[in-house]
Amino acid sequence: MTVFEQNSMPAGLGDAPARIARTSVPSVSALEVQFPAEVVSAAAERESWRKEVHRPATHTHKWWAQRLGSVFRGILASAVSESEREAVEAYGSALRLPDLVVCDPFAGSGTTLAEAAKLGARVVGRDINPVATLVQRQALARWDRDRLDRAFEAVESRVRAEIDELHRDRHGRPVLYYFWVALASCPRCPAGAEPVELFSRYVFSQHAYPRKYPTARATCPHCHAVVPVDVVEDSTLTCGDCGRTSDIAGPVNRATMTCPRGHSSKVLDALGDRPPVLRMYAKQVLAADGSRVYEPIDDFDLELYAESGRRLARRREELVLPVGSLEGGHNTRQAIRWNYRNWEQFFNARQLYSLGILGAALRDLEPGPEREALIALFSGVLEFNNVFCSFKGEGTGAVRHMFSNHILKPERMPLEAHPWGTPASSGAFSTLYRSRIIRAWEYKRRPHDLVTVSGAPERRFGLSEPLECELGDSRAFSEGSSRAYVGTGSSATVDLPDDSVDLVITDPPFMDNVHYSELADFFHAWLRNLKPFDGYPVDEATTRHPEEVQSADPAEFGRAIGAVWKECARILKPHGLLAFTFHQARIDGWKELVRALETAGLVITAVQPVKAEMSTSTVKSSAADPSNLDSIVVCRLPGHEVPAARSVAEVERRALAGLRECRSAGIKVGYSDVESVVRGSVLALHTLPSNERTVDALAAEADLAVARAAEALGVRSGKEPRAAGRS
Ligand SMILES: C[S@@+](CC[C@H](N)C(=O)[O-])C[C@H]1O[C@@H](n2cnc3c(N)ncnc32)[C@H](O)[C@@H]1O
Ligand SMILES: [Zn+2]
Ligand SMILES: [Zn+2]
Repeated sequence: MTVFEQNSMPAGLGDAPARIARTSVPSVSALEVQFPAEVVSAAAERESWRKEVHRPATHTHKWWAQRLGSVFRGILASAVSESEREAVEAYGSALRLPDLVVCDPFAGSGTTLAEAAKLGARVVGRDINPVATLVQRQALARWDRDRLDRAFEAVESRVRAEIDELHRDRHGRPVLYYFWVALASCPRCPAGAEPVELFSRYVFSQHAYPRKYPTARATCPHCHAVVPVDVVEDSTLTCGDCGRTSDIAGPVNRATMTCPRGHSSKVLDALGDRPPVLRMYAKQVLAADGSRVYEPIDDFDLELYAESGRRLARRREELVLPVGSLEGGHNTRQAIRWNYRNWEQFFNARQLYSLGILGAALRDLEPGPEREALIALFSGVLEFNNVFCSFKGEGTGAVRHMFSNHILKPERMPLEAHPWGTPASSGAFSTLYRSRIIRAWEYKRRPHDLVTVSGAPERRFGLSEPLECELGDSRAFSEGSSRAYVGTGSSATVDLPDDSVDLVITDPPFMDNVHYSELADFFHAWLRNLKPFDGYPVDEATTRHPEEVQSADPAEFGRAIGAVWKECARILKPHGLLAFTFHQARIDGWKELVRALETAGLVITAVQPVKAEMSTSTVKSSAADPSNLDSIVVCRLPGHEVPAARSVAEVERRALAGLRECRSAGIKVGYSDVESVVRGSVLALHTLPSNERTVDALAAEADLAVARAAEALGVRSGKEPRAAGRS
């Protein structure tokens, strides 16, 4: 039964949004008939420019492949509506799902959970990674602003003076950034020869728009004086201190370095069997008038750094420091080749000491959601304060954090920031307290949403409930005494009763090479000593898990994801609905997915295209065929009356209509989008109880359908060489 109640608003309050309550999932939903792609995609496009501003509750900490809240609001609104018109209305209204249970078995940063909780649903989140659980908890938990501020001030009074003291110049001015370079020994020079500084260019600071602002700073290779250069015009630099002229190009060219005697060798061969030794050569100082000055390193700076090392050695036992070693893997391999063996080596002595005292102050705070929020903040700060960070340049956020690559990529020219920070800093504890925690607190108390009003997305308050949940365990949740339950563990086993969930809404891992746990271990190495919440797995050396769905091998991927779908089918109510976003360039990924769903006893009732997480996604886009769309795959249990399309021709027609709608929403539809959406739609036929065709037979039909759809849309693959003589 669907309750559709529209409040009539008293005169003068015309702006108050309509309130719509839905208490069950219709037997045929808009998600299956016609998803309002146009309305949702326009909001999603806007959100994707600045996700952390539009959805701050789920952005208190790094997580990978974070999805757009607007898309998941759209999925939820469509899942409880019967038609596209109703779904559009629900999306832009104060929609409430008071009795519905929404579960996300691959919850990540908590995008689904936050959107569902904003609609007043009861939510269950599960993720195999405890760092993801930490991020989800921050999205949902109730924080008290006074307690947050008091905890922050307690930490500040304990550590700030000392961190400031270790980041200042000889005049007492704050140092915002120290510039470092890795050293290597030429394998062909005699032992004891001066090491090579691994610069590819001696320019260490330039503007993000160098054509407009060509003045940059270089370091003199002979005396390390700071030398102004014109990055557009100059190929040499002349040092005002030592008077010598040098090439701006440094000794490193790609993976090769050349020593002063002219020997060429691979950088990796020259590193030896330890992580590279680093040398500090310049700093950026905050002057009294607010300007930023670049200066070379002097004896005072060297002594201050040495002092950090002595304090670290002396107080090691009291500090919170990272524990554990790196294990081999797709995303850790490169760091290991550079001889990084444990997480502590990702930080220099001053970073370890400063973060170590900060961590200790956080560890000792009174338990509660505010302590946990500050620990999550601290963990996020680590990303900007380690030797894998680099300088982005002037005119932009200064620190390029370590996860701008989806692997752990060693840095030849690391940037060391002031971890507590000044108002002029980026990526620091004090600045991120405001831009992440306080912004999230404001949002959680009074959420806003992007609603498309006559084609243009606008920010609206008052559509959603505050994100202020008491987090309970599975018992409290099942008994109804708690509205939200998030747990860590494989979703191949979920501690919920049979037939207890109305909607499973999720975003599973794709078959690719991003191994969340290999990267998340960087945070876990610190969190183990901080124990952010009860039940955090402090004794586990790694967040890797044999049941993590993550493999570039199709059969393994299918097996792991299949185990989760089977469990979802168990907890789903007979008339419930399961929907997830999926994107897969490789047809193998789609084939395994439909096989896994079929084995789990789920029937695909629709495949809908929708705006993908981010226009600039580097993981999913290949240069030849960038992709902008995800598919939403909708499933039901077989007992349910299945409204699915039954023929290739019919699913092809629907897929084409969906793609056209995305295009009219202003989204560029590329060849790989057509490929993914059409293939998914055709392969979905495999899950119909009446189906007799094999997955391979359907795959062959899918490829023909892709060609027809691409032709109809006038889209061609960037990989295909253009045949001569054809337009
Ligand atoms: C694509 S991400 C979800 C991202 C999320 N939608 C967001 O917006 O942040 C997939 C998640 O699945 C989790 N995962 C992988 N295998 C799992 C399993 N067997 N059980 C539960 N979670 C799993 C990963 O840790 C990862 O967080
Ligand atoms: Zn040499
Ligand atoms: Zn010089």
